[in-house]
Amino acid sequence: MATESPKLAYWENYFAQCKGKVYEFYGNYGTLRGAVREALGALDSQNPTILMAGCGNSEISAEMYDDGFENITNIDFSKICIEEMLRKHSKKRPHMKWLEMDMTKTSFPEASFDVVFDKAGLYSLMDEKLCGIKFLGEVRRLTKLGGIYICVTLMTQDLIGLIFRVFRANWEVSFAVLPVEKNDHGQAIQPFLIIAKKTKSGVAQIGGFDHKEFSDRPTGQLVEAVAGMLVEENKERLEKGK
Ligand SMILES: C[S@@+](CC[C@H](N)C(=O)[O-])C[C@H]1O[C@@H](n2cnc3c(N)ncnc32)[C@H](O)[C@@H]1O
Repeated sequence: MATESPKLAYWENYFAQCKGKVYEFYGNYGTLRGAVREALGALDSQNPTILMAGCGNSEISAEMYDDGFENITNIDFSKICIEEMLRKHSKKRPHMKWLEMDMTKTSFPEASFDVVFDKAGLYSLMDEKLCGIKFLGEVRRLTKLGGIYICVTLMTQDLIGLIFRVFRANWEVSFAVLPVEKNDHGQAIQPFLIIAKKTKSGVAQIGGFDHKEFSDRPTGQLVEAVAGMLVEENKERLEKGK
């Protein structure tokens, strides 16, 4: 019998404790809708195939479904979570799929999705960096050419370094700053939105933001630090592209 990993045990316990109560990590569809609709509207497919990786019990899949994006496959390695989501949504939203699956080693064939959507999934994997690396390997493999990876995440040096490395050649990447959220202790946390498009374009500059617009925020210093890392990465990309 396979032994349950401590991480899986943690999340199973988390969803058992939730008892159906939703905790939306790092922002809801309302805050993301504009950017998500713009990114999905620019895809070739009018009915994009979307993989929601590490879906949890977030409402975002249901809200996107109701907003016209019905082709969503949700995966999470927590059986409790997937069973709960099936109970909650399968009648009302019959075209949406819910599968118990490890996002670091999925069973989907290459180029299965126009969009891989990850809200707080990568961030939750990064305490074991190898899991983050494996997941982004899956993102590269599963995304169709011209498709996109949407990542809503908090930022650490490890995570941004990994994004820079994995999406250097043949991906067009942009970073945006999302509204400030509060953690369980009431402290301000700063989510970012990263969109990476799979292309054949070689090494492209990363699109960023003007950090001065965010200097009044409690998270202003972090935003400035991330902007600084983008500038350094773009200098390196320019050198490599010469
Ligand atoms: C921080 S929560 C985010 C949940 C949801 N996406 C949201 O935005 O509220 C991370 C989720 O990833 C799932 N997860 C963690 N590691 C995973 C893995 N290796 N494979 C699949 N799901 C995983 C957890 O069960 C949990 O539901």
